[in-house]
Amino acid sequence: MILVLDFGSQYNQLITRRIREFGVYSELHSHKMSAEEIKELNPSGIILSGGPNSVYGEDSFRCDEELFELGIPVLGICYGMQLMTHHFGGKVERAQQREYGKSDISVNENPVLFRKTPKEQVVWMSHSDKVIEAPEGFVVDATSPSCPVAAISDEDKQMYGVQFHPEVRHSEYGNDLLRAFVFDVCEAKDDWTMEHVVEMEVEKIRNQVGDRKVLCALSGGVDSSVVAALIHKAIGDQLTCIFVDHGLLRKNEADDVMRFLGDGFNMNIIKIDAKERFMSKLEGVSDPEKKRKIIGNEFIYVFDDEAEKLKDIDFLAQGTLYTDVIESGTETAQTIKSHHNVGGLPEDMEFELIEPLNTLFKDEVRELGLELGVPEHIVWRQPFPGPGLAIRVLGEVTEEKLEIVRESDAILREEIKNAGLERDIWQYFTALPGMRSVGVMGDERTYDYTIGIRAVTSIDGMTSDWARIPWDVLEKISTRIVNECDHINRVVYDVTSKPPATIEWE
Ligand code: XMP
Repeated sequence: MILVLDFGSQYNQLITRRIREFGVYSELHSHKMSAEEIKELNPSGIILSGGPNSVYGEDSFRCDEELFELGIPVLGICYGMQLMTHHFGGKVERAQQREYGKSDISVNENPVLFRKTPKEQVVWMSHSDKVIEAPEGFVVDATSPSCPVAAISDEDKQMYGVQFHPEVRHSEYGNDLLRAFVFDVCEAKDDWTMEHVVEMEVEKIRNQVGDRKVLCALSGGVDSSVVAALIHKAIGDQLTCIFVDHGLLRKNEADDVMRFLGDGFNMNIIKIDAKERFMSKLEGVSDPEKKRKIIGNEFIYVFDDEAEKLKDIDFLAQGTLYTDVIESGTETAQTIKSHHNVGGLPEDMEFELIEPLNTLFKDEVRELGLELGVPEHIVWRQPFPGPGLAIRVLGEVTEEKLEIVRESDAILREEIKNAGLERDIWQYFTALPGMRSVGVMGDERTYDYTIGIRAVTSIDGMTSDWARIPWDVLEKISTRIVNECDHINRVVYDVTSKPPATIEWE
């Protein structure tokens, strides 16, 4: 295992990801981790990430300096290198100005981290302070026009530092450098495969649960489906899933989930038809935030009622991802929309939690799902919000409007699939703004609804761009929606990015 200590760089998750891509398990932890805790983790190597601080700052992030004495190889990146330099008595110069962007470096002699790469290479710099004198016993491995000390090492101590960011793709040979550290210096094994993850997690779940029982809330999304499949593999019938159909799902969605997890995996799934409950609570409500809150709360009430009927449940399974773990506590972002996850559950429930995905990134969860035999169309399912179609019918939700969104969305999905664009577009759906306009159909004037098509490319949903769907595909979608959906006489395409818009219309 390679431990990455986080000093606040925007690239810190990337380091962990790169190492996992090599097949070596890696975890990101706070820079506050003590040397004692590090020893317990027993990593084969430690990477100190970059960060915005200066080693001379009073409130700057520090590490437990005893980690340098543990006999574990350390690679300091950017601020990490400056900390290492400072600790071993070298000189760090306070910045006059910031260096940001590509830079050329020249490699000296034959240092271990650069052994397999050219003498001249392009790297990505993003720093203010810089090292101007390597500590005693260290050699300078590389220089750049602006950084005379761009890389250092003390091979006896197994201490290495680079001023640039090898984890960023613009560093031409950055991956080779990280590989050299992980494999040649730390001698880590590349045995972290999905098969291995399944074995490990199954054993962990069995040990944790014993012969007791687990409850899982299924939403039909990737994360909860993979959690259920994994736990089911570990403990079979000791797992019960609850799937709440709030009536705000897409066309055939509830049946799909029941077919693949219930029939296909032979899981115990209790499907709750709570349509009426949700619709009656939503009646007359048109404020988006109120709608979200009502749905979030009602979900909890329904779940609570059902869970109470089940006897002797000790554990609750949740699809928490590694990103949620890393980001929790650091998020200071303003609430733009109160996101409610269908997995979000009452706080006063007396269950122990099982969160078997909490060390995995989203794409790793997908891989794990495939390894477990979860069907591709579930594994690659686009994100779907907890409040479902209720936030795609703008204003008051009615059955009639839900039906229009459901049908138009099904057409859109079918045509995107036919055009082979499913994997290229991050999320795509239709929304009903509730405005009406004049049209002409046959020889008659119509006064009917407009459907909006939203299709975006994104990495994590935080920002997005509108997808450039080919015009002929859009044309087909538009023609089909107008012809096949009642009360639609106009189709528009949303061409705003996020920001300033959001992905969903409510
Ligand atoms: P916005 O509309 O905020 O959406 O740009 C970003 C991503 O989050 C999804 N989304 C939600 N997911 N509960 C969820 O589980 C919610 O209340 C919710 N609201 C938005 C949205 O579909 C997009 O993928």
